[in-house]
Amino acid sequence: MSKQHITCTVNGEQTEFLVEPGITLLDALRDELGLTGAKEGCGSGDCGACSVMMDGRLICSCLALGVEAEGRRLETIEGMAVNGELHPLQQKFLEHAALQCGFCTPGLLVAAKALLDTNPSPTETETRFWLAGNLCRCTGYDKVIRAVMDAASEMRQERSAA
Ligand code: FES
Ligand code: FES
Repeated sequence: MSKQHITCTVNGEQTEFLVEPGITLLDALRDELGLTGAKEGCGSGDCGACSVMMDGRLICSCLALGVEAEGRRLETIEGMAVNGELHPLQQKFLEHAALQCGFCTPGLLVAAKALLDTNPSPTETETRFWLAGNLCRCTGYDKVIRAVMDAASEMRQERSAA
């Protein structure tokens, strides 16, 4: 089947790629754009390892098609650090040792950022519910939750100091 020409914005940059109609957005990101941060854990919307943002909404890229990116604004884990400076969430994941194998980590970070973008002061319960769709087989989740709560606190302090 012939490939379709897609134009979209990825991490703030106008981007074009060719993709066959039946290819998932996850595979398009990884294979056509070389953005391999999003991972395929399950391929069925159950693990969150493939999480990306589309037009400001958190989605599983394994459940979207590459052609659906046409005209959209995509954000992936590759755009989270700016000019080599880690996002507070990334820094706190390191400080709290909230990752081990790291397969789930890109999706957890993208999902956690989506949470803090809309709710800068989540409770622990809200954080656990929000991240319930992101499976991790290594950390036991507590370190992840600690890291997200700590990052949220630091980001609030930075905002109030600005
Ligand atoms: S790979 Fe998409 S939710 Fe698991
Ligand atoms: S760090 Fe290994 S699955 Fe999460």
